[in-house]
Amino acid sequence: MGEEIKKGLMGVTVDETAVSKVMPEINSLTYRGYAAQDLCAECKFEEVAYLILNGELPNKKQLKKFEKQENKERKISKILVDAIKKIPKKAHPMDVARTVVSIMGLEDKETRDNSPEANMRKVMRIFAKTPVALAAFYRSRKGKKIIPPKSNLSFSENFFHMCFGKVPNKDIVKAFDVSLILYAEHSFNVSTFTARTITSSLSDIHGAITGAIASLKGPLHGGANEEVMHMMNKIKKPENALKWINNALDNKDVVMGFGHRVYKSGDSRVPTMREYFGKVAKIKKDKKFEKIYDIVEKVMIERKDIHPNVDYPTGPTYHLMGFDTDFFTPIFVISRITGWSAHIIEQHAANKLIRPLAAYNGSKHRQVTSLSKR
Ligand code: SDX
Repeated sequence: MGEEIKKGLMGVTVDETAVSKVMPEINSLTYRGYAAQDLCAECKFEEVAYLILNGELPNKKQLKKFEKQENKERKISKILVDAIKKIPKKAHPMDVARTVVSIMGLEDKETRDNSPEANMRKVMRIFAKTPVALAAFYRSRKGKKIIPPKSNLSFSENFFHMCFGKVPNKDIVKAFDVSLILYAEHSFNVSTFTARTITSSLSDIHGAITGAIASLKGPLHGGANEEVMHMMNKIKKPENALKWINNALDNKDVVMGFGHRVYKSGDSRVPTMREYFGKVAKIKKDKKFEKIYDIVEKVMIERKDIHPNVDYPTGPTYHLMGFDTDFFTPIFVISRITGWSAHIIEQHAANKLIRPLAAYNGSKHRQVTSLSKR
């Protein structure tokens, strides 16, 4: 009998983690024991980033120190700014995200130091500089002047400021902050597992995050939030939604923003994000996407019993906030850097090289013939 193959590592437990868990008893994603939706209600993103990285929620003093560090690290080097200006304008921003983190690795004096202290310092640099670099590309590819970061603005406010030159009203900023909190961490998803696999060879944090970004880009993972928007744009108006989704299901198409490897009866992040999507739609006085959203969701549940994942509400929310569609997954990146980093630090602390086996199904042993005889 051959080896048992667990395709896609489905159902396989490969290691331990203390960072997050979907707790069945409360039917919710938890970070360090706290339900993600409770964190959305009580905290700003910086507090949750601190929690994920340090294991505990910060007190006022700890938060202030953390924010000060993040603020201090926002400045990006001239080398990086010059590189961003030279990147082809049509490049996908996820490829830009991968490239800017890679360049930061070239510049970082501690790249090869994998001690917990050096790793935490590098995390702060990657965490603070990546959104700044992405916002710079947001502007430069439109031929607009790059806006420097502002130190009196929060993490989310500064991202708006650098992309658009202004900070929207506090409810929009809160909705964005909530999306970052919900995107921050999700255990052994494919990009985090990629980061942990890279780390397991004792490679460095810039490399692990670069690899994680490449993994997140795919439409079956983080790239789904962009695909959701493409789908909604194809549907165009609520009157078309019912026919569109029924056709898609008749054709056995994969509908983006639905389904999940772990959640089988609904992603616990969706109700919170759906609520904030509604708030943003109300502020923007644009209910079209909400109507399309509800029709597609209803049919998916009725016909397939497949529920939306977090990428379904974030897509149209970011659109209403004014972001270009190809920037949706990079926004996921700036949040998930926290989760990836916590896992990379965890992997270093109790490392075991990740090296699974494969069942061979290739040719039998054969003799090599020289080139002239082939
Ligand atoms: C994220 O893992 C994480 O934690 C990820 C994430 C995070 O925070 O890190 O939560 C973020 O990546 C969310 C997922 C974003 N991706 C999408 O929205 C893409 C669309 N979804 C699917 O392709 C799918 O549901 C996956 C990739 C998310 C999960 O894939 P699985 O676990 O391998 O399941 P599957 O594709 O084998 O589906 C099982 C069945 C199949 O039908 P049968 O062949 O058994 O008849 O469900 C059907 C699938 O066809 N199905 C869908 C569907 N999702 C599952 N059918 C239509 N549309 C869908 N979206």
